[in-house]
Amino acid sequence: MTGLFDTHAHLYDKAFDKDREDVIARIFKTLDYVVIPSEDLETSQKAVRLADTHEGIYAAVGIHPQVTNGASDEVLAEIAHLAKTHDKIKAIGEIGLDYLYTDKDTQKYWFERQIQMAKELDLPILIHDREAHGDVLEILKRNADSRLRGILHCFSGSIETAKELMKLGFYISFAGPVVFSKSIKLKEVAADIPMDRLLIETDSPYLTPPPYRGKRNDPSNVLLVAEELARIKNMDVQELIDITRENAMKIYQIHQ
Ligand code: NI
Repeated sequence: MTGLFDTHAHLYDKAFDKDREDVIARIFKTLDYVVIPSEDLETSQKAVRLADTHEGIYAAVGIHPQVTNGASDEVLAEIAHLAKTHDKIKAIGEIGLDYLYTDKDTQKYWFERQIQMAKELDLPILIHDREAHGDVLEILKRNADSRLRGILHCFSGSIETAKELMKLGFYISFAGPVVFSKSIKLKEVAADIPMDRLLIETDSPYLTPPPYRGKRNDPSNVLLVAEELARIKNMDVQELIDITRENAMKIYQIHQ
């Protein structure tokens, strides 16, 4: 299988410090592209450096909801400057809401600021949504216009939520959890996502799918997500890989 596109992998993570270049060389035997999302200014700079030095790697820059307590106007301005000065930055993210963490108001404030920034930069957004489906939708609806678009990463919501997101111009991305045998509901949701809105990702080094659970995840395992979705949708794996790659290239505006 070839031509895979992992739309979300944290390749700057310390889990890859010992063998990052080996991993990158290996994954490009089966992948064409990887997008590295960021969590703060430091990881944004790391993601951009990796993108600038590897052909198939692109980056997203932004402040993750779990660390919005450390956000400031200065940090946001530096992130915007990165995005303006690096062609390989293709999105703002990951941004969003994570209600396993406190301070919802701070999270909402910086989510909305970064949505506005993405629109000014004419870039899509990568959304992290944990236990916050209602508020994420509400904020997106309030900011909806022709410039708002993006990806709901590691989708875990209902088909109703997915439909609302797709109406607003969003793509739905599935990661390792859709492979877990206990994820019966999530598989049903995936079955109902139209092929022209479907994306695949790993969220490496997290969320390792079976049969490698407990081990470090890396982008080559996006094949396991593709295989499971092809099984759910009763279609050829290579066809699913090709369609999800085309979708990802479209939303990230990557031209061959
Ligand atoms: Ni992530």
